[in-house]
Amino acid sequence: MNPLAQDARAAGARVGLTGDTITINGGQPLKGRIEVKGAKNLVTKAMVAALLGETPSILRDVPDISDVRVVRGLLEVHGVKVALGAEPGELILDPKDVESAHMVDIDAHAGSSRIPILFCGPLLHRLGEAFIPDLGGCRIGDRPIDFHLEVLAKFGAVIEKLPSGIRMTAPEGLVGTKIELPYPSVGATEQVLLTAVRATGKTELTGAAIEPEIMDLINILQKMGAIISVDTDRVIRIEGVDSLTGYTHRALFDRNEAASWAAAALATNGDIFVGGARQPEMLTFLNVFRKVGGAFDIHDDGIRFYHPGGELSPVVIETDVHPGFMTDWQQPLVVALTQAHGVSIVHETVYEQRFGFVEALIDMGANIQLQSDCLGSHPCRFGQRNFVHSAIISGPTTLHAADIVVPDLRGGFSHLIAALSAEGTSRVSNVGIISRGYGDFITKLRQLGANFVVEGE
Ligand code: EPZ
Repeated sequence: MNPLAQDARAAGARVGLTGDTITINGGQPLKGRIEVKGAKNLVTKAMVAALLGETPSILRDVPDISDVRVVRGLLEVHGVKVALGAEPGELILDPKDVESAHMVDIDAHAGSSRIPILFCGPLLHRLGEAFIPDLGGCRIGDRPIDFHLEVLAKFGAVIEKLPSGIRMTAPEGLVGTKIELPYPSVGATEQVLLTAVRATGKTELTGAAIEPEIMDLINILQKMGAIISVDTDRVIRIEGVDSLTGYTHRALFDRNEAASWAAAALATNGDIFVGGARQPEMLTFLNVFRKVGGAFDIHDDGIRFYHPGGELSPVVIETDVHPGFMTDWQQPLVVALTQAHGVSIVHETVYEQRFGFVEALIDMGANIQLQSDCLGSHPCRFGQRNFVHSAIISGPTTLHAADIVVPDLRGGFSHLIAALSAEGTSRVSNVGIISRGYGDFITKLRQLGANFVVEGE
């Protein structure tokens, strides 16, 4: 079995999936209410931020996903105590006894996660050393960490490449510096934030990512005692402080999960109330959802996404950094675009290879052509470099059932949506990967009336 599938099977088993295959009888609308909890791409970083505090932290609305388990395991091998709090989804993180961990233990817990790279700043501050195994993450490009290593070196980290990964030390401590990112990388921006808050002196970050998850991490760091400003020109300035306390924080909701269920409502002709979803962080998605022909109602406690009837319309989408259309939103939406009357175009400008999932959709009857040209309003980093990063989707096409192997997190959710909207019975395997980012998705599918069986149950 390939390493990804092993990882997924293990992840799936950990979240109650006996097998990692589900058999879906498609063609029925998804209808009902589900709740989204804290954002995977904030919560995992908030857990790492707790390492910086001199006192325990409390994090609320933590989703039941395997990426959280990975970070919990990594924190515990570093001596951090992680306990369940009083309310569901609450974690108490106590970094009092933080200690170095062995590379083999880090590697054993990291699995395919890229999160270990973000442990470096906090561990260098507290212990003067950090280790990173070779990193994984979804296969959606080669996922380099060059920006991260350049950032840490600029703060004064000494980086030593080992056969099994990387060892870092900070003999002179970490000192604030000026950094200009070549691309508004979310991870590299988090790397700067988690390192600069305890560095000596000031740090100025130009070309930062300002996604809502980044802003919520800044909220957390400010609660801990950090001094951080975000200027209109995406320049983030941090004044290093001598110590930080723990925090108490309720995580921002997962807008990627909310957008995925919205796409599922559209593709299955359904009606899904996503409890916990908020309009401000989904503004760009809501505009596109409406242009495709979806309808939504904003409530105080969530957003109702539904197919109002009639034909879906094609759209031209160009993914971008916030406040643009998130790259994580395009995969689920592409399934709905296969049902739109006309030709849609998606120009993926954030990752060079994020259309691997369309192969299964084409096998199911979708009409999707992939191009290496920049099919959007402006050329991106991947143009003229043979990266297949634009998709032309012609619809409507009838999707028929198929046997599918899930390739990655968001592509995997798209495959679920496709199987749910296709006529006939599909077998979707390797679904454990989906539990990396979609908490209790089997329960949620049941709540929405999906007709399926988890093999082995
Ligand atoms: C975060 O990944 C998210 N993951 C991704 O979500 C999300 O798609 C991405 O940000 C963009 O919004 C988490 O937060 C765990 P980047 P990250 O650094 O930080 C290149 C999901 O499905 N780059 O902004 O890894 C990189 O190759 C995941 O939830 C370098 O070249 O994204 C990519 O082309 C998928 N060198 C671009 O920058 C580096 O050192 C954006 O990456 C780092 C990144």
